[in-house]
Amino acid sequence: MPKKLLIVTGGGDCPGLNAVIRGVVKRASVIGGWDVYGSIESFCGILRDPPEIRLLTSETVARIHVQGGTILLTTNKGNPFEWSWRREDGTVETIDRSDELIAKIREFGFAGVISIGGDGSQRISYDLGNRGLPVVGVPKTIDNDLAGTDYTFGFQTAVQTATDAIDRLVTTAESHNRVMIVEVMGRGAGWIALHAALSGGAEVCLIPEIPYDINTVKERIERRFAAKRGYSIVVVAEGARPTHGSITTIGSSEVGRNPVRLGGVAYALSRQLKDAGLSADIRETVLGHLLRGGSPIAFDRILGTQFGVHAFDLVAAGSFGRLVSYQGTQVTDIPFSDALMTEKLIPAEHQLIETARGVGISFGDGK
Ligand code: F6P
Repeated sequence: MPKKLLIVTGGGDCPGLNAVIRGVVKRASVIGGWDVYGSIESFCGILRDPPEIRLLTSETVARIHVQGGTILLTTNKGNPFEWSWRREDGTVETIDRSDELIAKIREFGFAGVISIGGDGSQRISYDLGNRGLPVVGVPKTIDNDLAGTDYTFGFQTAVQTATDAIDRLVTTAESHNRVMIVEVMGRGAGWIALHAALSGGAEVCLIPEIPYDINTVKERIERRFAAKRGYSIVVVAEGARPTHGSITTIGSSEVGRNPVRLGGVAYALSRQLKDAGLSADIRETVLGHLLRGGSPIAFDRILGTQFGVHAFDLVAAGSFGRLVSYQGTQVTDIPFSDALMTEKLIPAEHQLIETARGVGISFGDGK
């Protein structure tokens, strides 16, 4: 009898998820003795009645590493410890279904679970592991903010998409002598913004790790116009904030998720620059979910495949409670707890910050 392995993809989608799924399934077929299944929409597929679980074969996963999204679908509302839904009278009910989930996974006979997700999903994996679920985690997020791994897959694709967008915005900015503000995702971390600002050749890069002074930003842009360069590119991370201000958010009424969504800082910054007296024309572009969509670039296909193979090998070896990790040039694994202690932010002394300052990019802090 072959052993059974379950894959789930949780949280926001990310380019490279399908490459990980394919890596696991192909490795399982090379090793033999395993049947791999996928639960639809993270753990929801297990908890549904009837359950939504798919057998994944080499045929099912053929060429999916090229596709964006996840063939298993995903959700950021499927926390089994805080399972929420809206009753008919409009009130929200929340219960803990984690014991039921673990019991069902045992009933189905799964010898191991590979959970592909970001920090929220890995916190769930860790808690399920502490309750006895044999689970291995694979770190995913375009934001690259998960501690314990140098890179998460999806990040490099997001940077490439942002770079392509900036390249296009430069030509229209130049034609009109405009300031173009480009908002990118990243939550509390500025990794996407910093990389995109460097590769796109921006004048200003505003990140959550360095609160900005609006007059300093304005002066940097004015210097550029005074030097008759004609236009400016400002990259701003969605979680950036002014020195004496707060982050820009959009409320959310979606049940079962964080009620605070980030977004709109490009427009807030535009208003702040106008209020500070900047006379140049300003236009705002929010790249948002474009950064999560589409086909992964080669780097993320390769990293996803490496993560998938390594995750399968951990399951086959019975090494549970581990998170796959990329360190230097090596794929390895660490205990979940090492990754979940803190959010991975950009350190002030990071070499890329120095490089950016070295080519005149302003972080709005006057340095
Ligand atoms: O964590 C990835 C991310 O893309 C963040 O940068 C962003 O704030 C968030 O997801 C948005 O998620 P969603 O719109 O799916 O709730």
